[in-house]
Amino acid sequence: MNKVKEYLRKGRHRVRRTLNRILPGARVNKIKNLSQLRARLQWIQVPAEVGSVKGQLWPEEQRALYALGAMAESPMLEIGAWLGLSATCLAKGILASGVSKEFITCELNPTPANYRRLPDGQIAFYYPPESEITMGACSPEVYENEIKPVVEHPEGVAGQLRANLKRVNVDSVVQIVTGDFKTALPVRKFRFIFTDTMHEPSEIRRNAPNLLKLVEDGTILACHDTTPENREELGNYFQFSESIQIKTLFIGVIKLRKDGEKGP
Ligand SMILES: C[S@@+](CC[C@H](N)C(=O)[O-])C[C@H]1O[C@@H](n2cnc3c(N)ncnc32)[C@H](O)[C@@H]1O
Repeated sequence: MNKVKEYLRKGRHRVRRTLNRILPGARVNKIKNLSQLRARLQWIQVPAEVGSVKGQLWPEEQRALYALGAMAESPMLEIGAWLGLSATCLAKGILASGVSKEFITCELNPTPANYRRLPDGQIAFYYPPESEITMGACSPEVYENEIKPVVEHPEGVAGQLRANLKRVNVDSVVQIVTGDFKTALPVRKFRFIFTDTMHEPSEIRRNAPNLLKLVEDGTILACHDTTPENREELGNYFQFSESIQIKTLFIGVIKLRKDGEKGP
């Protein structure tokens, strides 16, 4: 009798393992909080289609965003989609959860007019194009190889984003809004925000006050390219009840100050 039970147990285990391999969503559905996300990260498999979207996210970051798409509550917001890699990971996670969620991605949609060469040869970004305030700069090589082909593409950044999301079958899950999130979105609260617009302390100082208006207690805030210096700057605006860091991806649960409390 014990042998039969053992045989059935092993059989169930084999079936579960096979299902997890062919249905990657099976695992992300079970992740309910950030510590589970960190503990199970290595077992998460993003759907193969994700690999066909260009972008710069570590595999671990892609897995984390996929799990966050499944775990996060609606409404969800992404700021900074570019060609849609992170949006695809999040949207695939939403589909894996089997739950219908509102998911908006907001993208500046820059054109070549937003870029100007500085006297030192660096290529600086301005928004709007007539602005005199630099939003960041990169080397001529990075501009030529990574940015120019995208912004000069006849379909523009937003057109390529839309086409990519359609090609990987997540266009029905993602709503694209073009413009600066500070003005393009109505002020409302989100339960999840992933932002790829907090790359350095000055950018955090520029964006955080507006981001604060979109969060509430318990909102999950995920920021890409978070260095220890950026984490410190974030702390001047946000408090977190728990947080994890996966490669350069910081993920925290917002804890709002109670009336009368001091500090950030
Ligand atoms: C590093 S890229 C995003 C990469 C993308 N998340 C991916 O997975 O490949 C940053 C993007 O943020 C956009 N962006 C920067 N500031 C923004 C703002 N204030 N509102 C909306 N989008 C913004 C830029 O146009 C750019 O496409």
